[in-house]
Amino acid sequence: MPDIYTDKILILDFGSQFTQLIARRVREAGVYCEIYGCDADPDRIRSFAPKGIILSGGPESVSASAPSDIPDVVFDLAVPVFGVCYGMQAMAAYFGADVGAADHAEFGYATVRARGHSALLRDIQDDVNEQGHGLLDVWMSHGDRVESLPNGFKLIASTDSAPVAGIADESRGYYGLQFHCEVTHTKQGARIIQRFLTDICGCEAQWQPAGIVDSSIESVRAQVGSDNVLLGLSGGVDSSVVAALLHQAIGAQLTCVFVDTGLLRHAEGDQVMDTFANSLGVKVIRVNAEDQFLQALAGVSDPEQKRKVIGGLFVEIFEAEANKITDVKWLAQGTIYPDVIESAGSATGKAHVIKSHHNVGGLPAHMKLQLLEPLRELFKDEVRRVGHQLGLPAAMIDRHPFPGPGLGVRILGEVTKPFADTLRKADHIFIEELRNHDLYDKVSQAFAVFLPVKSVGVTGDGRRYAHVISLRAVETTDFMTAVWARLPYDFLDLMSRRIINEIEGVSRVVYDISGKPPATIEWE
Ligand code: XMP
Repeated sequence: MPDIYTDKILILDFGSQFTQLIARRVREAGVYCEIYGCDADPDRIRSFAPKGIILSGGPESVSASAPSDIPDVVFDLAVPVFGVCYGMQAMAAYFGADVGAADHAEFGYATVRARGHSALLRDIQDDVNEQGHGLLDVWMSHGDRVESLPNGFKLIASTDSAPVAGIADESRGYYGLQFHCEVTHTKQGARIIQRFLTDICGCEAQWQPAGIVDSSIESVRAQVGSDNVLLGLSGGVDSSVVAALLHQAIGAQLTCVFVDTGLLRHAEGDQVMDTFANSLGVKVIRVNAEDQFLQALAGVSDPEQKRKVIGGLFVEIFEAEANKITDVKWLAQGTIYPDVIESAGSATGKAHVIKSHHNVGGLPAHMKLQLLEPLRELFKDEVRRVGHQLGLPAAMIDRHPFPGPGLGVRILGEVTKPFADTLRKADHIFIEELRNHDLYDKVSQAFAVFLPVKSVGVTGDGRRYAHVISLRAVETTDFMTAVWARLPYDFLDLMSRRIINEIEGVSRVVYDISGKPPATIEWE
């Protein structure tokens, strides 16, 4: 089996918000990479043995008084190095160039003129100027600029406000670009990164879904041997892919516990069982816990309290089930690479908290389970590709995200069974029509919300005094910010008519036109 880890790249993180994007671009080019903090132990960097190193951008300023914070090991390894934005400035400073505050900070689109026919930029251009020089449309975001060329370097790109916008010492394979080639605003960015990986570092595109699956299966088998493994299956993308992967790797040694909270989407519980237990033959224990969840939620209307109740009961039920299964040594989790980066790095944002609910953490100590995390090297899009490779249904893999507490946070205030049933029907109509109209994949997340206020309506000759459904659809890349989706009016009209006509408990449908910020995506 080919080794998918021989050609790998190290990304040294100086704190840019775009560092993960660099890693994703590298992986998309078929090359494995990892992100280390810029203060990583030099021995760890050495033993990773990368074929090339990328220095990320960062919020810091490289000033003449502060020495460059690139560890010496980066240049001792004698592999190509590519500095992006701050990474280029820090590299220039490392080799003795002056870096100072630019007259004008530059944020946004810029046109860069390629110079010097470097191996990095040769024949990559968006346009050509009158003198025949290549021009690149790029995304700039910097306050400092490199004032002079470091020793041994030549100029490979410039703009009016940053005369030194790209540098190279081609004899050693050192390159720097002032602009962000990892963002999609820089049209040729992916090609530039690919050029660095293949032509300059000599990496081959080994990192492909089939190889990732084979390699993961092999390492799971080596890790667990003949031990039994337990997995909390939620029906979400990550745990589903873990289940399919482990099933291929260890078959009957895997037992999944699927807790049906009664707060899932239309037919979701049956679909999970159908895919895993019936089609794939995975051992899945389904716990129908709707009554327990509704009882525990009775009278609880505060959003945070509801989350606590749902999360707490979920762990309790999962533990009780897990305790019935003897002879288990491993607990599998759907931890993915962004979770690993976040818990290792300084960012302790919301995503981390969200995940701690998702990943059942609090198993009794006496079970002494070891953690098995077969997706911990993968980004979400890679998890999806692996899921396709494993033959999971596209509808399951490409599904919009769904919060751990489920419909519990989409029914405002107290959760009751009639409210949950009404919401499920409305949500199902919305999602079904989004798919029918080819809109589902054009929005990042779409769902219905149940508002426990009553409004008056007329249906036929009768008066209806019933509840309100709000529809929410957003477009986002990272779920940290989002805009509301501009769904066609005719489509919204169809939604309102179908939902009010088909669901007796609804008299009015509204569409949420709030962006994030200031609103959040979920209503609670
Ligand atoms: P917000 O509402 O914070 O949501 O804008 C951002 C993304 O996170 C999801 N979300 C959750 N996921 N447990 C989860 O697993 C939660 O408690 C939770 N709250 C929000 C939300 O669906 C959106 O995709």
